[in-house]
Amino acid sequence: MTSRPKNPNDLVSESGRNIAPSGIREFFDIVYSMPDCISLGVGEPDFITPWKISDSGIYSIKDGYTHYTSNRGVSELLYLISDYLYSKYKLQYDSNSEILVTMGVSQALDLTLRSIIDPGDEIIIIEPCYVSYAANIKMLHGVPVTVPTFFEDNFKIDPERLKKAITSKTKAILLNYPSNPTGLSFSQSLLKEIAKIAMENNVLVISDEIYSAIIYGAKHFSIGSIPGMKERTIVLNGFSKSHAMTGWRLGYAAGPKYIIDIMLKIHQYTGLCASSISQYAAIEAMQSGEKEVEKMLIEYTKRKNYIARSFNDMGLPCIDPEGAFYVFPKVSQTGMSSRDFALELLKAQKVAVVPGSAFGDAGKDHIRCSFATSMENIKTSMERIREFIKKV
Ligand SMILES: Cc1ncc(COP(=O)(O)O)c(C=O)c1O
Repeated sequence: MTSRPKNPNDLVSESGRNIAPSGIREFFDIVYSMPDCISLGVGEPDFITPWKISDSGIYSIKDGYTHYTSNRGVSELLYLISDYLYSKYKLQYDSNSEILVTMGVSQALDLTLRSIIDPGDEIIIIEPCYVSYAANIKMLHGVPVTVPTFFEDNFKIDPERLKKAITSKTKAILLNYPSNPTGLSFSQSLLKEIAKIAMENNVLVISDEIYSAIIYGAKHFSIGSIPGMKERTIVLNGFSKSHAMTGWRLGYAAGPKYIIDIMLKIHQYTGLCASSISQYAAIEAMQSGEKEVEKMLIEYTKRKNYIARSFNDMGLPCIDPEGAFYVFPKVSQTGMSSRDFALELLKAQKVAVVPGSAFGDAGKDHIRCSFATSMENIKTSMERIREFIKKV
């Protein structure tokens, strides 16, 4: 017998050991130990789940809907999702074969990646981007290939850069719009250019549209609705952000049957089904939640206008967000890295923001500030940041 590892901790996987801890978590461990700190770091709505939705979840428990559901999801919910995607975004997906209900977009993304990545396969990610993307790809022994975007170009993708990033190993381009962390979206014409590149090179598109319902201005346009794209696009969406349901862990993937079938198989072995209670709550969210989403949107809009204007007024250039609940002001002109800026601000003024470097190298000149917190907190934090930059 060949020699065996000596200690239990030698038995953990290389890939698990090598995953870098999330730049956000690491930072917020410091924040939690600091009372009276104002946090602009949180990536979830400060609103409580609308009562009718919660009530529906409670009723499902009372009525005994507390068992496993079908692996794909409760059929009424699947049907409502299909209807919603068509009426909102002109996406046509069959509820019986082309939609899968998941434990948040997080699981929908994981299942999508598991369905397409073999070791060494490449997935193109557009930086700055959501912290999970690169880690998730690496955990599956895939390779994240970064296409950077820049403040000067409104963080739009340069189609030429995108084309150059495609190799014989590329499986998919992973998009997120409106974006966490920039708050910016992609125009219909840019999405058409990306679609053309995907079709010409036979590449899939994973489209994380979790913030599609939180938009300020132009209507959300989904790349999956472009003719010819349905067969190569997996649209990810969910209830966490739109309906303030982060803790319910509910999302979904919509895509061509050949991928959803594989995702469903993996889901059968690794997750079984999303929470039955959450699915019944989501049925209510789909049936009557729209007004609640609109109310939240009105509040987000006021906060967005205030926070974007405040940053620009104090000399930290900030693009007006088109969606989501983040602003991404530039701080490099202070001479500090985004990490130092965030740490010093926290120490000096007890305001927590996320260093842009947590979202990849392309974010290193920025900080991400979430306005999913009260207007009072936003106003106080803006005063504190103004004080802070006077002294640097
Ligand atoms: C871009 C993006 N995708 C996915 C997620 C995860 O969403 P869920 O709560 O549905 O798993 C988040 C959460 O912050 C996000 O910002």
